[in-house]
Amino acid sequence: MRSTEGKRRLAALASESNQAKILEAPLTVIIGYDLAFAARLPQLFPARGEAMQRQFEADTALSASTAFRNGSLQGAYLILAARALGLDTGPMSGFDNAGVDAAFFTGTEVKSNFICSIGYGSDKNLFPRNPRLSFEEAGRFA
Ligand SMILES: Cc1cc2nc3c(=O)[nH]c(=O)nc-3n(C[C@H](O)[C@H](O)[C@H](O)COP(=O)(O)O)c2cc1C
Repeated sequence: MRSTEGKRRLAALASESNQAKILEAPLTVIIGYDLAFAARLPQLFPARGEAMQRQFEADTALSASTAFRNGSLQGAYLILAARALGLDTGPMSGFDNAGVDAAFFTGTEVKSNFICSIGYGSDKNLFPRNPRLSFEEAGRFA
């Protein structure tokens, strides 16, 4: 969303505390995932695209988990790329996914995952950096 109208439509579907973060940012991105991604495999993976397309199209659960995983990774790469350019990013999950899908992705198989405002942040209204789990709390070697 870059236009005032687009930001207004998205903000209306976001939780109250997220609305200003959408309206005041220069840009807010909807990161989605395409449940029909398999149709693109012959183009994107010519070596085995048609066989993989058939495999995914025969297994909707596998298609959905693959689309969600890879779409999430793409969203994380978008955040890293924006930050590498010196921009600030504000990822948010506080919005009405079904409402956003109906408003922005009707007629497609794309579903919203999360939204992310991009711009130059200020220290105003920021929470302090949150604590992190230690490696011992969050991971283990096997
Ligand atoms: C799963 C998830 C959902 C989030 N949803 C929101 C949200 O709806 N609105 C918001 O302002 N921040 C949200 N945040 C937090 C911000 O994006 C936060 O700035 C980010 O996690 C970095 O803060 P930290 O470094 O202190 O963890 C969310 C974070 C996570 C991990």
